[in-house]
Amino acid sequence: MKPKVLVTRKIFKEALDYLEDHVEYEIGTLERELTKQDLLIKVKNKQGILSLLVDSIDRDVIDAAPQLKIIANCAVGYDNIDVDYARDKGVLVTNTPGVLTETTADLTWALILSVARRIPQADFFTRAKMYKGWELDLYLGREVTGKCLGIIGMGRIGKSVASKARAFRMKVVYNDPHPLDEEEEARYQASWTSLEELLRTADIVTLHTSLTPETTHLISKDKLRLMKKEAILVNVSRGPVVDERALAEALEKRHIWAAGLDVYEREPEIEDRLFSLDNVVLLPHIGSATFETRIRMATMAAKNLVQGLTGQRPDHLV
Ligand code: DGY
Repeated sequence: MKPKVLVTRKIFKEALDYLEDHVEYEIGTLERELTKQDLLIKVKNKQGILSLLVDSIDRDVIDAAPQLKIIANCAVGYDNIDVDYARDKGVLVTNTPGVLTETTADLTWALILSVARRIPQADFFTRAKMYKGWELDLYLGREVTGKCLGIIGMGRIGKSVASKARAFRMKVVYNDPHPLDEEEEARYQASWTSLEELLRTADIVTLHTSLTPETTHLISKDKLRLMKKEAILVNVSRGPVVDERALAEALEKRHIWAAGLDVYEREPEIEDRLFSLDNVVLLPHIGSATFETRIRMATMAAKNLVQGLTGQRPDHLV
């Protein structure tokens, strides 16, 4: 008998075809909503869950599935899963690292350039037929080339962002609890600096940390006050890393120049004040959203799941 699996939401055919050969799967919902109650009922007889980052796989869910062996998250982040509790219960947890690194770094650069050069605002202006002729000071932005880039969180994505910064001949500083060794610092042409110093000196600050109790509100009101008035803040990591209300205030009061956000503190809710500000670019959590990457992520999650259910050590155990 094939093991029973809950795929919480619709995923790509490539991943479902692979699952089909190895497990008996049920798709939790074809809609956006999957209520906790539904989740609790659907996991009951399952040995595996293939979850997305919007599914909260907490103690209740784990307890509701007495036969559960593995939770395969289709994301590199796994803050939606109570990993400690899963470990206590002997349930494996896997994620999808590596396959989305370049894609997320590319989006980071798209966001940096969009914010610095005010691309969405200028596009909106042009579409609204407000362009009446060239002006010396129309949609002035900030330069990127030659500026100082501050990377907070120098994991895979942070490193890729640093590599791409070379094209812009930037000085790169970074902060991470685990500094790179000399050889890696040379490779990425990046030097470790304290968080405070980074915030004081960088023209563009970009966040790539995972969400942990230590990184929650890492960018607080006080930290925002350390940043330059001309600085840009970009967040492509997890929303709660930034105190969103404090950020809205900093943007309103022009304590910093602008921000670009792909993630939010209480997704999908967004701090209301941000909508009316013209110095912020808002994206709907699309860091890894390319056809190629999302298919790779779903397929990797499916493989991890099958490995865990067939007695093999999954490739990407958390
Ligand atoms: C992740 O994988 O953690 C991203 O946030 C979604 O691609």
